[in-house]
This record gives sequence, structure tokens and C-alpha cells, in this order.
Amino acid sequence: MAYRLNIVELNKVPLAEDFLTKRELGIYKTFKIDKRKKEWLGGRYALKKLACDFFNFDIKHMEVNNLPSGQPVLLVPGGTKLPVSITHSGAYAAAAIALTGQAIGLDIEVIEQRSPAWIKQCFEESEISSKSAPFLTELWAKKEAVLKFLGVGLKLSCTDINFVFGKLEFKGKALDMWARQGSPNITLQVQNLQGSYKLAIASEEPRF
Ligand SMILES: CC(C)(COP(=O)(O)OP(=O)(O)OC[C@H]1O[C@@H](n2cnc3c(N)ncnc32)[C@H](O)[C@@H]1OP(=O)(O)O)[C@@H](O)C(=O)NCCC(=O)NCCS
Repeated sequence: MAYRLNIVELNKVPLAEDFLTKRELGIYKTFKIDKRKKEWLGGRYALKKLACDFFNFDIKHMEVNNLPSGQPVLLVPGGTKLPVSITHSGAYAAAAIALTGQAIGLDIEVIEQRSPAWIKQCFEESEISSKSAPFLTELWAKKEAVLKFLGVGLKLSCTDINFVFGKLEFKGKALDMWARQGSPNITLQVQNLQGSYKLAIASEEPRF
């Protein structure tokens, strides 16, 4: 597999002092809204625990930094920066580390009905083979995972990333961005969580 993934329940995350560095604790304390605090902490715990278990690093000897774009990177002992992604929604936070390629993108979304105006804004007609909540939620989670893989988030138009008959296609600024990153072979995987959430993972597979 091209990545490692960890999903945590927000109400099972340990105390911030148990796993954040001094600098991270300083950032954590600046958040005023409890929900944001919990999600931010949950994402960092999911990621650090994953790196601890997989690479055997000490949890307090690694740090999650955000680039100016908001994209997270994991700084591990020895100074290496690993490509990672974080997402949070409702009761969950998840994180992934790319083992191949230069990037990874994750997104969790609650399965729920969306308004016709939102659907029109986010999708091309050709992508919508069903208007069911699970289908559209999955489609949206896949788009956000790709946006995060590209490292730009919603600064790009979501209709510049399309899943035509399920196949990923780029246009406009997303195509430029993808080409600038060396046209990586991005593959998408989707997991259902508790029947209430969709988790999409955009990772890079080597071309053969
Ligand atoms: C990235 C984005 C699509 C996240 O969407 P979301 O579904 O609301 O939130 P999620 O929980 O799935 O993801 C949030 C995580 O995405 C990550 N992220 C943020 N910006 C990112 C980017 N440009 N590329 C990749 N990942 C990004 C962060 O790790 C963030 O969690 P954290 O703030 O706790 O570290 C959205 O925030 C966005 O478009 N951001 C870019 C534009 C922007 O305003 N950046 C602000 C820079 S501070």
C-alpha cells in the first residue's frame, strides 16, 4: 500500500500535554472554539500515533507543521519531512502518511442530503450518476481528498477536478497544478465509517 492510515474517535484522544511539543501546545492554547480545539488535537494525535507505531518514533520528538497554504507536514527525528494529510469531521479525525510519492490527501464527510444549489456549484452534470446522499458525499470527499493532495484546498474550483464515469480528470488551474507536480498517478480509495461517514484517500501509485 502507498500509505498508512489512522482513524481516531475524538473522545478517545489523550490530553494535549501527553503528545504535543511545546510549540504545538502554544498553538493549541490559542484556539478559542472548543470544537476546533478538539478537531485540531484529534488530527495531530491520529498522525503522531501512526508515525509512532509505524516508524517507532517517540511521540514527543516529532512535530506537525502547517505550510502557509494550510497543508500539514510531519517533521520527524533527523529532520526528515514526511508528506501527510489530516481530516476531521463529527466524531472522527484521521491522518495518513504517504509511503510512496510526494503527497497524499484525505477527507472525511458526514453522509447527508445536499441542496440542489450546492450540487450545481460543486459537480458537473456528467459526474452525477445518482443524487443519493451516499453517492454525492463520496464524490465530494474524493474531490476534497484530491484538492488536499494537490496542496491547495478550496482555492481551486471544485469543478476543475472531475470524476467522469468514476475516472479522475483535471482541467483549468487544477490541471496546471497537477502537471507542475509531475502528473502523479493519483488513485482514490473510499471507506464507509459506521454507515454515517465517507472517508476518501487520494494517494500516488507508481506508474509501471
Ligand atoms: C483544505 C480544506 C479543503 C479543508 O477542508 P475541510 O473539509 O473543511 O476540513 P478537513 O477537516 O477535511 O481538513 C482540515 C485539514 O486539512 C489540512 N489542510 C488545510 N489546508 C490544506 C491545503 N491547502 N492542502 C492540504 N491540506 C490542507 C489541515 O491539516 C487541516 O487540519 P488542521 O487545520 O487541523 O491541521 C479547506 O480548509 C481549504 O480549502 N483550505 C485552503 C485555503 C485556505 O483558506 N487556507 C487557509 C490557510 S491557513
